Amino acid sequence: MTTTETGALLDLADLHDSLRHPLAESMDFLNGVALRYPDAISFAAGRPTERFLDLADVQHHIDLFHRHVVARTGGDVAAANQELLQYGRTKGIIHDLVARNLATDENIHADPESIVVTVGCQEALFLCLRALRRTDRDVLLAVRPCYVGATGAAQLADMAVLPVAAGDDGVDLDDLTRQLAAAEVTGQRVRAFYLVADFANPTGSSLPLAVRHRLLALAEEHDFLLLEDNPYGVFGAGDEPPPATLKSLDRGRRVVYLGSYGKTGLPGARVGFAVADQPVRTADGGTELLADQLGRLKSMLTVNTSPLAQAAIGGKLLANDFSLRQANVRERGVYRDNMRRVLAGLAERFPPGGDHGVTWNSPAGGFFLVLKVPFAADDAALAESARTHRVLWTPMHHFYGDGVPVGELRLSVSNLTAGEVETGLDRLAAFVRSR
Ligand SMILES: Cc1ncc(COP(=O)(O)O)c(C=O)c1O
Repeated sequence: MTTTETGALLDLADLHDSLRHPLAESMDFLNGVALRYPDAISFAAGRPTERFLDLADVQHHIDLFHRHVVARTGGDVAAANQELLQYGRTKGIIHDLVARNLATDENIHADPESIVVTVGCQEALFLCLRALRRTDRDVLLAVRPCYVGATGAAQLADMAVLPVAAGDDGVDLDDLTRQLAAAEVTGQRVRAFYLVADFANPTGSSLPLAVRHRLLALAEEHDFLLLEDNPYGVFGAGDEPPPATLKSLDRGRRVVYLGSYGKTGLPGARVGFAVADQPVRTADGGTELLADQLGRLKSMLTVNTSPLAQAAIGGKLLANDFSLRQANVRERGVYRDNMRRVLAGLAERFPPGGDHGVTWNSPAGGFFLVLKVPFAADDAALAESARTHRVLWTPMHHFYGDGVPVGELRLSVSNLTAGEVETGLDRLAAFVRSR
């Protein structure tokens, strides 16, 4: 640091590496485009629909949770007030309700003590990576293309990420085996494999059941953990239940399950969690849970997750018999209808057999799909799409992590009306044709 006439001057080169990574710039760029064209129709943001967000519901849910705590404390209103308004338990105050939610919606039967309630899934992810990365040798595997929040968290934790190809099934198991072998040769220690098994961000793809079983077997064989991130699992578009989560199939405590109430509960509450039931051997020969270690790290980062935010989520769980599938019936309808409308609308605008060279995948649920186009869909193309056609999308190169432009766009269907989908597709088709 130097001192100038106007005060301190910091040099970016002296700040943490993550600040100079292209990822930081890409986030600024994407947010900047959205701000510059507020009248554009956005297939870019992965936000849940705003249609049913209601402050009165939030107040009702906080009241419900408060009454629940009063009952739990044998009618002690002062203790209940304190639980909601004071600093609180580091691992959270709704862990028992989260456990019931997981049992109801996901057939996951977790000990509440193995759950850490966090400031969004993002904090849970960071805590896991921070705990698992001890030396330079400790690396993370992640499917490429990957959710940027995961690669970003790995950078903050100074943890290298080894990419695994997605292939046709969402994870190319042959490539995974190759990466594991390569890591062994170079002396790297694979601590975990991060993945979104259901309706992934950014591709929308879901892993077949056989791949899930194989991943659990490989984790056992090669002694690494699976970090299963599942923000979209309840948003299946079909009537049939989605494949079992990795955590519900996990018999060897190989899976750390990362949950988010950002899409299913209330985005503004910023509540997520980790189920970390792995035993950790301590110096005195005893064992604790990985959740306890994550709690220790959390006490040095965010201290505890806002109890009012937890109350809003806890109350919503209480109001819906612990089922977020049930709580999101209307939202699921919006996402399902929008996904169907986008898929049908693309087929109308780019008929099969035409010479447009445009293809796309057909996810069975979630928020995202990927459109492939015969030109580099890079940041300059997005800027032009926004400027001349008033339609936004996300260039897929941001998820590949190497900055090399690809002919792929991520489309999000979650926060649009039916009319916006149609107009947005018209604009998108006009932009693609102009290329
Ligand atoms: C795959 C994935 N994981 C995690 C998150 C973030 O979750 P939270 O908002 O709870 O931090 C997102 C949000 O976009 C996501 O797509």
